[in-house]
Amino acid sequence: MEKTDVDRLRRLDREHMWYPWTPMDDWMANDQLVVERADGCWLIDPEGRRYLDGRSSMGMNLHGHGHPALVEALVAQARKAGETTLYRVSHPAAVELAARLANMAPPGLQRVFFAESGSTAVETALKAAYAYWVAKGEPERSTFVSMANGYHGETLGTISLRGVNNDQVDMIRKTYEPLLYPSLSFAQPDCYRCPVGMSSGGCELDCTDSLEEILVREKGKIAAVIVEPRVQALAGVITAPEGHLAKVAEIARRHGVLLIADEVLTGWGRTGTTFSCDAEGVTPDLLTVGKALTGGYLPLSATLATEEIFDAFRGGAFLSGSTYSGYALGAAVALASLDLYEKDDVLGRARALADVLTAELEPFRGLSHVGDVRQLGLIAGVELVADRENRTPFPPQDRVVERVCTLARDNGVLVNAVPGDVITMLPSPSMSHDDLRLLTGTLFRAIREVTGE
Ligand SMILES: Cc1ncc(COP(=O)(O)O)c(C=O)c1O
Repeated sequence: MEKTDVDRLRRLDREHMWYPWTPMDDWMANDQLVVERADGCWLIDPEGRRYLDGRSSMGMNLHGHGHPALVEALVAQARKAGETTLYRVSHPAAVELAARLANMAPPGLQRVFFAESGSTAVETALKAAYAYWVAKGEPERSTFVSMANGYHGETLGTISLRGVNNDQVDMIRKTYEPLLYPSLSFAQPDCYRCPVGMSSGGCELDCTDSLEEILVREKGKIAAVIVEPRVQALAGVITAPEGHLAKVAEIARRHGVLLIADEVLTGWGRTGTTFSCDAEGVTPDLLTVGKALTGGYLPLSATLATEEIFDAFRGGAFLSGSTYSGYALGAAVALASLDLYEKDDVLGRARALADVLTAELEPFRGLSHVGDVRQLGLIAGVELVADRENRTPFPPQDRVVERVCTLARDNGVLVNAVPGDVITMLPSPSMSHDDLRLLTGTLFRAIREVTGE
């Protein structure tokens, strides 16, 4: 791109763009990263500078950019039909994809309802769960229970699930509070700041007691428990102790409430199994997928349900869905992505890369301002603290984590900051081992420099 074109773009950006989650004054005051092209796991700006994408476009990218099989599937489907809508019309790609998803999902999830984003897949699951109880003659079961600090999306329905720990103020909840419906939350399985005060060893998953208490107290009022299985990535990569998911599932079953597993981020090998639920042999009643479903090439998501849930809707219709639900282009690319998932052994590659990541993260533990390093497969978080002994955070005005991310970016590596002073990495399984080492090495140096180690 010519310099004049870049300048024009920046001017138009300042005049017209409005970015998600972005303090706009800051944005407009600085020259921001513009990605004009991408190649594999590298993003390329108009001046030809290359950035290693350590967050795989927020967990979307599965096979790398510019994969010929995905491009070909997209073009081939576009030549046949771009979309047809699923409103009382079907098309082969959606049907094939539904069957494929049912085959890959934890056993028993046979029905597939399509949407476009992770948020709308979760909304669909919430509506399906409540409508299920209505159909069963228990409409008073209208409350959802989520894990504290969980993240399930952007819609008012999904923000309503944002329960927080007592001492925290959640800006999202606070901003939209009057628009949200009431929900309940149970303790997050945060082993660095254990909600039940365990220090080390002897964990008997007592943090799940708070779920049990809610389900006893609110008997007959709960529609479903919703969880991000085994890891809350956006809450700061809170990795649950082994057995936590199975215990939550057991408690939900015992109390006769539905379980929704939100696998929008964790699906497709990111946690070391195709779905995170697979690792603990859990089949939820509803399971959501999105993000990497199309390898990140098109927005498509799905809510999977058991036949038991589906049966409740047979006599009538599920009053949900939108124009683009299951559109043909997205479904065709998702099918091609799932072909690659099997053919290229993406799961095996993800596991091997996760092992490299584990080894690479080890030296971070020795840094005096690294409080904790957490990882599940290809989801990793490094929590920075001002004082390691007392686990005290840096003053927010120091913007330490943000400065680390900016320095890493200036050195050609993209990582994410999430609240709680955690730097997150979500590398694509398609990243080479050498590139991953470059990613962690750059981040390591950035942390040292910013924290003055
Ligand atoms: C667990 C989980 N659920 C839902 C969502 C929302 O997905 P989307 O941004 O596609 O709406 C996200 C996004 O990060 C997520 O991590």
